[in-house]
Amino acid sequence: MRYRLWQFWQIVWAKPLTTGAWAEVTAVLTPAELQLFRRFPANDQWHGVRVLRLVQSSGCAHPALWKAALLHDVGKTEVRLTVRDRILVVVGGALWPGKTAVWGDGEARGWRRPFVVKAHHPAWGAEMAAAAGCDSLTVTLVRRHQDSLAEVQQPELHELLRILQWADDQS
Ligand SMILES: [Fe+2]
Ligand SMILES: [Fe+2]
Repeated sequence: MRYRLWQFWQIVWAKPLTTGAWAEVTAVLTPAELQLFRRFPANDQWHGVRVLRLVQSSGCAHPALWKAALLHDVGKTEVRLTVRDRILVVVGGALWPGKTAVWGDGEARGWRRPFVVKAHHPAWGAEMAAAAGCDSLTVTLVRRHQDSLAEVQQPELHELLRILQWADDQS
């Protein structure tokens, strides 16, 4: 519950990135990737920075993981969500976790929009990352960042996704 309230607060009140945080971001991303990152609203930029810091603290220095930390949610920028939409998906997900996949199936219209974005943003983001020239491992990490690890056979990918999801879940 505390985490939900904090998420709420972030959605409404996040401040722009500090100069120091921008320096961390520009050290990781190419100019084309940076253009993707700039599409995020401030709270999502901070989310990416927090995920980046956590994956760095894990000791994994794989460049694709660092890029995916910053860009994994970029597909969310495909559909402009209102503050109300963003709160709805947080509250709906907390109250009816089993329903979000059902609501997320279909077109991004009406009250279901935020749920469709939640379900499909990994695929949309992977397309955007590929179009921006990201390497294939970064694209794969973006596309699969929400997948169950049980479905991931390849050991290296499994390990990188595990770290990414661990960091994402607490950010
Ligand atoms: Fe995501
Ligand atoms: Fe995320």
